[in-house]
Amino acid sequence: MPIQSHTVSFSPDGKSVRVRPGTTLLAAARSAGVRIPVRCEGRMGCLMCKVTVESEGAGVSPPAEAERRKLGTSLESGIRLACQAKVCGETSVVTPEDPLKRAVRLQLERQKDEEDDFWA
Ligand code: FES
Repeated sequence: MPIQSHTVSFSPDGKSVRVRPGTTLLAAARSAGVRIPVRCEGRMGCLMCKVTVESEGAGVSPPAEAERRKLGTSLESGIRLACQAKVCGETSVVTPEDPLKRAVRLQLERQKDEEDDFWA
């Protein structure tokens, strides 16, 4: 019998990885080389591992009561704790962008817009 696995895609990094069901999104991210900074290593103490699961949370386990209490209404926006949400199907996840990378990306976009305006 083949070993079952599911693809987890991460944006904005554009990376993906195949993992076994039950793997946390945090572990999947690390396998894919996607950095999610954390302090508590999955003890639900830091809440730094918040990610957005696209398609209304498709492909991840429903939140347990403890995660529900920590996230409250954020759950309705697809926010999950990567250390708690477990892969159970194909899924796409948006991770928070590193502030420095974001600043560089925005600067490059501004420069491109200015160049496009200059040559138009
Ligand atoms: S790693 Fe700290 S809450 Fe998820």
